[in-house]
Amino acid sequence: MRTQVAIIGAGPAGLLLSHLLARRGIESIVIENRSRAYVEARLRAGVLEQGTVDLLDEIGLGKRLHVDGQRHDGIHLQWPGTRHRIDFPELCGRSVWVYGQTEVVKDLIQAAVDTGQPVHFEVSDAQIHYVDGDSPSVTFTDAAGEPQRIDCDVIAGCDGFHGISRPQVAATGQQVFQREYPFSWLGILAAVPPSTDELIYAWHPNGFAMHSMRSPEISRLYLQVTPTDTIENWSDDRIWSELSTRMELDGWHLADGPVLEKGITPMRSFVSAPMRRGRLFLAGDTAHIVPPTGAKGLNLAVADVAVLDRALGDLLNRGDSSLADAYSETALRRVWRSTHFSWWMTSMLHRAGDEFDDQLQLSQLRYVASSPAAAASLAENYTGLPLDR
Ligand code: APR
Ligand code: PHB
Repeated sequence: MRTQVAIIGAGPAGLLLSHLLARRGIESIVIENRSRAYVEARLRAGVLEQGTVDLLDEIGLGKRLHVDGQRHDGIHLQWPGTRHRIDFPELCGRSVWVYGQTEVVKDLIQAAVDTGQPVHFEVSDAQIHYVDGDSPSVTFTDAAGEPQRIDCDVIAGCDGFHGISRPQVAATGQQVFQREYPFSWLGILAAVPPSTDELIYAWHPNGFAMHSMRSPEISRLYLQVTPTDTIENWSDDRIWSELSTRMELDGWHLADGPVLEKGITPMRSFVSAPMRRGRLFLAGDTAHIVPPTGAKGLNLAVADVAVLDRALGDLLNRGDSSLADAYSETALRRVWRSTHFSWWMTSMLHRAGDEFDDQLQLSQLRYVASSPAAAASLAENYTGLPLDR
């Protein structure tokens, strides 16, 4: 096969990139090692920044989002005795949308099918070749067991944290920056209407708790647990009881219901630089991971791809490599802003230290709740700074 851009990975980064490039008349082929059903069922975070929504609208992929998603004009920050609403439009003139990443991926795949964009699912043994020259290629085994080769101009490594792309960059020298947090998130999906209009981020002596949602009927909730905790230790009753303790507030009641899914996810921050080697460009989780507090992962993948789309447009349509040469530096600026914000939200809300740390966290929460300047800083980062395209 021959194409202009071979895209490895059909997550939000890879799928969105293929759409954006097609709008510039640039051909691409996406390969993915999982099945379409698996990719469409994978449960992930659910908050879209204003810029992410604007971009999906611009390319005609925002229709279902505006029907099934919900615009949220704020979040609640909570600590014992206080629940404070941060009003996004008032503070920064923007909002966020609650719409699961799973739904975004379904919309992107449906659009690929409708436009005839090639996406090869269930491939195996993908390998990257000759990225230091002008004629890179990708080889793989297709779903039917046949060996395949894609000759291309550029490879986009959108294959997530465990993919094959980042090791290619590492082979020529790469800097890795990381932080492992001393706690994990236990997340549940529950068949119960949300007990709140806005997401609740709660600090509590027992640990952080959070109330999110997927639809008027489905809630998504999280608890801070220790990294060594296992899901077997957490019966549904224990989860609900701990959630209501940590989010308790006079006059408010947390409704419980059947738990549809539950799991524990470790928390880490990870950035690898540069995000390019020769003709291989990295985007999304393959180059960086943020902890889920603040829901930046998907939005950051979208921001990378928005920058990469323009860079590849100039490179492949006009032979101008200046944006491609600046790609890694441009993308990493936003990566570090989101890395800082999600580290900051995580550090403010999770119990991990001693009583001194507790008092610092509570002071920070009271400051954000009482200072319009501090609240505006949270609001503009949470809703997303403008996309640097
Ligand atoms: N060959 C082909 N596909 C691969 C390979 C491989 N060797 N390795 C991984 N993949 C696929 C994965 O199966 C996955 O579908 O690459 C895709 C990467 O997608 P994501 O992990 O969703 O990453 P990305 O598109 O960068 O989106 C970032 O995902 O993890 C969340 O919180 C994160 O919301 C963020 C978003
Ligand atoms: C989610 O709905 O899954 C979610 C929302 C906000 C976060 C993290 C996760 O900060």
